[in-house]
Amino acid sequence: MLEFHPVATAHPIIEIAPSILACNLAFLADEVRKVEAGGAAVIHVDVMDGHFVPNLTMGVPVLASLRKATRLPLDVHLMIERPEEFIGAFAQAGANRILVHQEATPHLDRALQLIREHGVEAGAVINPATPVAMLKEVLRDVDTVLVMSVNPGFGGQNFLAYSFEKIRELRDLRERHGYRYRIEVDGGVGTENIAALVAAGAGTFVAGTSIFQSADPAAAVRELLALARGALAQRAS
Ligand code: DX5
Ligand code: ZN
Repeated sequence: MLEFHPVATAHPIIEIAPSILACNLAFLADEVRKVEAGGAAVIHVDVMDGHFVPNLTMGVPVLASLRKATRLPLDVHLMIERPEEFIGAFAQAGANRILVHQEATPHLDRALQLIREHGVEAGAVINPATPVAMLKEVLRDVDTVLVMSVNPGFGGQNFLAYSFEKIRELRDLRERHGYRYRIEVDGGVGTENIAALVAAGAGTFVAGTSIFQSADPAAAVRELLALARGALAQRAS
């Protein structure tokens, strides 16, 4: 019998995914409302454990509270060791997408399967120093591939230009094999590079600083969306 995994309806869709790491967490619901008004498609949640990355952020209780504050899908980026141990709890708390790092577990396939067993979309993430080839065997099954364009751990870092090549490689692989994953990019994304990232093949854009440190987060989302859609129209023509 053929197995059926629900997968993302992929490519030409542009999604802006504000990262709440950069918002005022004392007013989380208000901050989320602002980016909803601007047209954010999903909310990106950065979970850090102080081991896999040198920083601590939020965990399951914050996700559960956030779940009550928005109907947007929640994109949970696990920057933690032994992600398998926490997948169930994040799924239970309301994650719609869970992203695990290739570097964080020797059992990436198991972690991805576990995510799907919870009815959550599964994504694989690679650090800047990790080549796309490390995901070769799982590309057929994942809903998302997230390319880190900064070294994970902190917001506000500079975009690493060599990430473009990885995005193009993922786009070519998707086309060649008929895969359906989204290509997501995270770190240093803003008005100066989003159009070029669309041209390279990315569709989901995580942005923290460029949205929440701006004077008007709703307008910042709108601007990113307009730039990305413009670039997509050019790509299609
Ligand atoms: C970094 C996180 C990012 C971060 C992006 O480790 O994974 O999601 O919030 O922040 P900016 O957009 O400021 O680079
Ligand atoms: Zn992230």
